Amino acid sequence: MLAQMQVEVRDERSEAADPVHDGRPGHTGHGRHSGADGHSGHSGDATSPEEIRRSLLIHDRVFKRSHQEIASWLEVGREHRVLDAGCGVGGMTAVFTQLAASLEAIDLDEQNVAETWIRVNATAGTRDVRVATGDLTALAYEDATFDLVWCSRVIHHVPDTVAAVRELVRVTRPGGTIAIREGGFPFRVLPDDIGLGERWLEDRLSAAGVGRFGRPREPEAGSVPYPFGWSQLLADACLVDVETKTFGFDSLSPLSADEEAWVTHHWRRWLTREDWRALLGPEDIEVMEQLLDPDSPHHLFRRTDLHLRAGLTVDTGRKPASA
Ligand SMILES: C[S@@+](CC[C@H](N)C(=O)[O-])C[C@H]1O[C@@H](n2cnc3c(N)ncnc32)[C@H](O)[C@@H]1O
Repeated sequence: MLAQMQVEVRDERSEAADPVHDGRPGHTGHGRHSGADGHSGHSGDATSPEEIRRSLLIHDRVFKRSHQEIASWLEVGREHRVLDAGCGVGGMTAVFTQLAASLEAIDLDEQNVAETWIRVNATAGTRDVRVATGDLTALAYEDATFDLVWCSRVIHHVPDTVAAVRELVRVTRPGGTIAIREGGFPFRVLPDDIGLGERWLEDRLSAAGVGRFGRPREPEAGSVPYPFGWSQLLADACLVDVETKTFGFDSLSPLSADEEAWVTHHWRRWLTREDWRALLGPEDIEVMEQLLDPDSPHHLFRRTDLHLRAGLTVDTGRKPASA
């Protein structure tokens, strides 16, 4: 069958992407942060859609190997019909294209849909693919359509997390699997002592990130608090055989161009965003400026001791055969 692209906007609500997310469910909905692999840009975070998209594209290139490991762990095969719900710019969609029998990918953001289509077209694999705008909280599919529903770094955006997972369950066939990627470990790249400024710079960046996101909880209209973990969420959506796995990512100096772009992209915002910068002490700002200055003898990528590491966590559950 011929692959088709549908760009019919079913829902214009544009929460858009959020590139740095720690994916904690307690903060259901609408732009609470997450931070697993350096993903940011939630509401209240004035990141432009273009910057978010660039971040998603770099993310997909850096974590391509992790995406393949995750798909392999999920045992995606030629007999499977797969839904990528909230596909972003299509990194994981492209992996599924190579493995599955058929694939649907949807996203609220029309530009992300277009980017995903480019990825899919550049990938050898099934041609039974459709990429369209759509809202995972109101999917335009029949009940029990998919063998695997994949939803990565999206659920924390929706106002009612449990209702969203139930919608994913609805379109999954009995015995099929739902896999959500949320949470994980924020990326790090430096040793604790870099011989410049105070030790543990990245710990202070993480703590500042908590300050950045840790505003008092003011639930947005329509958001339903769900202060529990992701695996509990799957169980609460009546899934069985719930499992969790974190996929470690490690890369040593010299980092690839994409890895350097990834670190630079996330770190630079500590200097360019006034509201972020205000959370750092003057000494850390000076150190960051030197680390990010290609002309400085302390430029980050002159170091031979970098270790880029992160953890991507995936929770899965199976829809009971009797459901
Ligand atoms: C952080 S990005 C994640 C993209 C991709 N799944 C990944 O892991 O790289 C979040 C994506 O979810 C999309 N999104 C947010 N709310 C959505 C919804 N209700 N339905 C479909 N997509 C949604 C955004 O447009 C964005 O592309």
